[in-house]
Amino acid sequence: MERLRIQGGRPLCGELQVQGSKNSALPILAACAVTGRTAILHHCPELRDTAAAMRILRWIGCEARREGDTVFVCSQTPHRFDIPETLMREMRSSIIFLGALLGRFGKAELSAPGGCAIGLRPIDLHLSALEALGVHTAEIGGRLCCTAPQGLHGAGITLAFPSVGATENILLCAVCAAGETVIRNAAREPEISDLAAFLNGSGARIEGAGTDTITVIPQPEFRNSEFDIMPDRIMAATYMAASAVTGGELLLHRAAPQHLLPVLPLFEQAGCYIRIQKDTLRLRAPQRLQRVRPVRTMPYPGFPTDFQASAMVMAALAHGTSVFLETIFECRYKHVPELVRMGAHITVQNNVAVVEGVPQLHGASVQAADLRGGAALVTAGLAAEGETTVSCIGHIDRGCERFEQNLASLGAEIYREHTDVE
Ligand code: EPZ
Repeated sequence: MERLRIQGGRPLCGELQVQGSKNSALPILAACAVTGRTAILHHCPELRDTAAAMRILRWIGCEARREGDTVFVCSQTPHRFDIPETLMREMRSSIIFLGALLGRFGKAELSAPGGCAIGLRPIDLHLSALEALGVHTAEIGGRLCCTAPQGLHGAGITLAFPSVGATENILLCAVCAAGETVIRNAAREPEISDLAAFLNGSGARIEGAGTDTITVIPQPEFRNSEFDIMPDRIMAATYMAASAVTGGELLLHRAAPQHLLPVLPLFEQAGCYIRIQKDTLRLRAPQRLQRVRPVRTMPYPGFPTDFQASAMVMAALAHGTSVFLETIFECRYKHVPELVRMGAHITVQNNVAVVEGVPQLHGASVQAADLRGGAALVTAGLAAEGETTVSCIGHIDRGCERFEQNLASLGAEIYREHTDVE
């Protein structure tokens, strides 16, 4: 078992290049299985989740290897359309392979991804959308067995909620269907646009990604491709928060500031100086952060649920009271009791958290329950007085590439240590 040990109180100052986006890399790795070609993916982050996606690719018979931050996938030879439960369990977003396998083989067999730390995460929207494309699903002994007896056909699909995963699964399947597909109320997240750009670069024709109406026009064949995965907007904001709570100054390269627009007002309300120049973003923290206007998590371009936890650490140290409303996932306040152990004043009722800022947090022994909550506990530890240990950091390793090395390069005192107990 491993944990992170942090000596708080050092301002985070310096420069960092933002890692490639996990939530873009995962569907793009799944998309590689669809094309039957070779793909070269640059800026593919080296994470537990991307490693799990590469294991799934190899299981189904693709070649997948990493050289530095570039991943090579050749999908000329896949021969399996099933994913065993052990691989499905390694990564909760493995459900994204459903659309990919259906697109490639017209059939798929995998286990339902199940509930998880941040909420139930049902897949009803995925399944009903795939049904519209001609997919029949049977659940046998906890396994989803999907087939398209008449072949995949295009369809008009209106999502009841702009689900990111459902939109991705539809795209992966619809690029292989006969006839045009139109998705209405599609997710507008930048990661959807990145997936569409990858598929288009591989020969597909997808129009409207990034808007709420996406059209997939069937194309005769795919081709080899080379693609640069977009910067991780959540990690960019996470490093900004870490610098903000420690009174630091940060220059982010490859920051894709256009994707950070939903979070920049929060930093400005908190009193941070923000300057954007092309693809770089500079942040300078004030002496003390100020309270922020109510934060309501929403689908893009609303405030991202994935940044709620780190934003709460900023509010926990701000002058004044801030209010959070989590509308996307049911259980996304698991960091709150841990922050309270560190001296934060936060009360939660249903999906509302009221955060009364305190001048200082103190170090404590805390436990990560999920990826973003875990990153937020590290952020809190960086600002706290004294020593903090964060355990269960396997969650953090799912999405934060070289986290402690990057933080240390900015002046943090943070170490990873092995322990016998978690
Ligand atoms: C993606 O999850 C991200 N994961 C999540 O990031 C992110 O928090 C989320 O989008 C929202 O932005 C990846 O991209 C791999 P959804 P996803 O389908 O696709 C409900 C992180 O920390 N819903 O948009 O699972 C669902 O329960 C992760 O990096 C249904 O009810 O999100 C949730 O309440 C965590 N039925 C809401 O919609 C469905 O069929 C949003 O889910 C599908 C979803």
